[in-house]
Amino acid sequence: MLARRNPAKIYITGRNKSAAQRAIANIKSISTHTDAVWLRCDHANLASVKEAAEVISARESRLDVLMANAGVMAQPPGLTKDGYELQFGINHVAHALLIRKLLGLLRKTAEEHGEARIIPVSSLALVLAPPGHGIVFDDLKTTQPYWVLGKWQRYAQSKLANLIYGRELFRRYPEILTLVADPGPSNTGLVSSLGFFDKMIVYLGNINRFLGIDQGHWNQVWLVGVPKDQAKPGELYEPVGKPSQGYTHWCLDPQLAERLWE
Ligand SMILES: NC(=O)c1ccc[n+]([C@@H]2O[C@H](COP(=O)([O-])OP(=O)(O)OC[C@H]3O[C@@H](n4cnc5c(N)ncnc54)[C@H](OP(=O)(O)O)[C@@H]3O)[C@@H](O)[C@H]2O)c1
Repeated sequence: MLARRNPAKIYITGRNKSAAQRAIANIKSISTHTDAVWLRCDHANLASVKEAAEVISARESRLDVLMANAGVMAQPPGLTKDGYELQFGINHVAHALLIRKLLGLLRKTAEEHGEARIIPVSSLALVLAPPGHGIVFDDLKTTQPYWVLGKWQRYAQSKLANLIYGRELFRRYPEILTLVADPGPSNTGLVSSLGFFDKMIVYLGNINRFLGIDQGHWNQVWLVGVPKDQAKPGELYEPVGKPSQGYTHWCLDPQLAERLWE
């Protein structure tokens, strides 16, 4: 869908080079004008994220859209190489570093070309974040092995972080248009790799809103293209292009957002 707009260049980051090469072949079959490039970037290792951001900054003088999409869900207890709980580290901390390192390029693009966007990818699963805290800061560098539905509470904290970091980004850098996507539930690798019990949580929790496998990207691509005067910065959008009704009080808590930023 992005390739059909004939962008000059698309970077695909990740660990799986062969999956990226298939996407790149697909992009090139749609747009002969688009240069598509894979860049290794392992979110479980901040040195790798830093290196990827520095390659992009060194090579490019313009970055129109940064889509912060990479994610894992309902993983067993674990830590990233830098000692963060796995989901918080991969889904939030790595994106925060990537965004921080590319902010200069995005701001320059907004100044010179009138617009630049960041699309953090969150999820309505954020409602499962620990009710008393939202984000348990004291536990971010532990495996958080102890909660009932612990793997969902770990995921939910990271998705809450994606949203409130996005809102804080807009507050601090209004020259960049930050629009947060909930892609909606669909049977990507994120869901199909789950065990029976966790799959049932996803299916039963989303009984009326499950999307087709070829529809999971629609909302975030819509956010790339929606005219800026028709979008509300810092807002969470559900598929497709609907401002969310799924906020918990943590989503709107300025102190939690400030602490996360710090
Ligand atoms: N599917 C749903 O129902 C659903 C619902 C709400 C929100 N979301 C969100 O949508 C986003 C995309 O998920 P998806 O459904 O498309 O899942 P997916 O098919 O499993 O894709 C996940 C992507 O994340 C990347 N990734 C995972 N671990 C990584 C790491 N350590 N370093 C770098 N990249 C990593 C993978 O790339 P490599 O394998 O190349 O590393 C892969 O491209 C996630 O943020 C997820 O939370 C999904």
